[in-house]
Amino acid sequence: MPETHISTTVAPSLSTDSFVSIGSQQPISAIEEAMLAAVAASHGLVTVSEALSLHRLCQMLPAGARILEIGSYLGASTTAIGHAILGREIDLYCLDCWHDYVAHGFIDHPWAKSAHSGNEVLLKFLETTAFIHSQLRILKGTTEQFRTLLPASFFDLIFIDAGHDYDSVLNDLLISMRALAPGGLLLGHDYHSDGHGVVAAVNQVIYESRNITVKGIIPGTSIWYAVINNPLQELVNLNASGLPRPTDRTSVPGSPASRSL
Ligand SMILES: C[S@@+](CC[C@H](N)C(=O)[O-])C[C@H]1O[C@@H](n2cnc3c(N)ncnc32)[C@H](O)[C@@H]1O
Repeated sequence: MPETHISTTVAPSLSTDSFVSIGSQQPISAIEEAMLAAVAASHGLVTVSEALSLHRLCQMLPAGARILEIGSYLGASTTAIGHAILGREIDLYCLDCWHDYVAHGFIDHPWAKSAHSGNEVLLKFLETTAFIHSQLRILKGTTEQFRTLLPASFFDLIFIDAGHDYDSVLNDLLISMRALAPGGLLLGHDYHSDGHGVVAAVNQVIYESRNITVKGIIPGTSIWYAVINNPLQELVNLNASGLPRPTDRTSVPGSPASRSL
C-alpha cells in the first residue's frame, strides 16, 4: 500500500486572514519586480495581483513540496510559480494538452493568432519556462488522460486553470482531490461570472463542503483558494452525493464574482 504523503506545506497553518493581503500590489520587492517583468513578457493570462499571489504562496512552501499546475498555456502562471521555487528543493509539474487552440477559442489572443497549433504554443512555453530547469516536469495530455496516472495524495499545492466550462472544472476538481496531499492547498483561476463554469463548479465542490473551512477568493484577483484537510474524503463525499448539476452551468444565481466562498 503506497504511503500517503502528508502535505508539508504551510497550508495547514493558513487561515482565511492569511489571504487578505496576498495579492496586494504593495510593497513589491526587487525579486517580485523581476518576476512580474518575466510574466509580462510571457503573453500570459494572469494579472499583476494574480502573479504576485501565486508567487507569494509558492514562496511560502518548504523544501520537499510538489506543485501541480493544470493548464499552463504559454507559461505566465508557470513563470510566476517558477520564480518562487527556483533553486529550491521544490518540483513543479505542468499538465496541459497544448492542443488545437482554435477549438479552445484562443484565436483572439495576440500571440495565439499567429500560432494556432498546440506545438507552437508548447514551444513558446518551453522557451519561456526554460529558466526553471530540471525543477519543471511537463505532463502533456488532457486531464482525463492523466486522471489515474497522477499519484494519489502527492501534491502540496495544485493550481487549476485549464478548461473553464462547468464539466471541465468539475472534472479537474475531482482529479485534484485525488492528487492533493492531506492538508494541501487547492487554487484555481477565473472565479468570476464572465460566462465560465468556474463559479458553478467551485461553489458546488468547495463552497458547499462543510469540512472545508479555509476558503475564499484572494482579494483583488479571480483566484479562489481552499485548504483541504482530507481530499480523499472530499472525493468520497462528492461521489456519494451524485454530483447534482446546477440548472445553469455557467453561473449560480446569487453568486456574483465578488462573493466570498
Ligand atoms: C486559460 S489557459 C492557461 C493559462 C495559463 N495558466 C496562464 O497563466 O497563462 C488554459 C490551458 O488549459 C489547457 N487545457 C484546456 N482543457 C484542458 C484539458 N482538458 N486537459 C489539459 N489541458 C487543458 C489549454 O490547452 C490551455 O493551454
